[in-house]
Amino acid sequence: MKTALYPGSFDPVTLGHLDIIQRAAAQFDWLIVCVMVNSEKRGFFDHRERAELIRRSLSGMAGVDNVEVDFTDGLLVDYAARRQVECIVKGLRRVADFEAEMQMADVNRRLRGGVDTLFLTARPELAHISSTIVRELARYGAPLEGYVSDAVAQDIYRRMKQGK
Ligand code: PNS
Repeated sequence: MKTALYPGSFDPVTLGHLDIIQRAAAQFDWLIVCVMVNSEKRGFFDHRERAELIRRSLSGMAGVDNVEVDFTDGLLVDYAARRQVECIVKGLRRVADFEAEMQMADVNRRLRGGVDTLFLTARPELAHISSTIVRELARYGAPLEGYVSDAVAQDIYRRMKQGK
């Protein structure tokens, strides 16, 4: 069985992420989407909430029956070893992403030989979307349609109303 791992901070999951999930799920027998910690980013949702929002966003979506959602606060390569996954999938939105992603792919390969990273390029119509932009729009109460699923938008608005 060909299994791949799509790691990310997914804070929150965007329509860009969901598109990568759908496309990666079509290429593998099983896809594990795993919420992980990016120590350079401050969290908006906690890890359980992020994983739950991914699950809710995927519910009813076509072609994702072979997708599992999980979270870990450990090293990516340790999780990959535990799950016996050799292929990591990452999305690339633009050239600016490339340098950091290449570095992460190299470090992961050095930490655990055999782990390879496969890059899927974002669809041009989704390439402007990032979780950072979503959090920024949310902070100002701007509409989130076209950026995130309804489930995520509702959760963000609810939290903003609660003043969180
Ligand atoms: O969505 P992001 O923030 O670009 O995802 C980055 C993430 C979470 C995949 C990366 O920070 C990560 O792998 N974190 C887990 C800890 C780890 O293994 N760090 C070493 C990677 S070089």
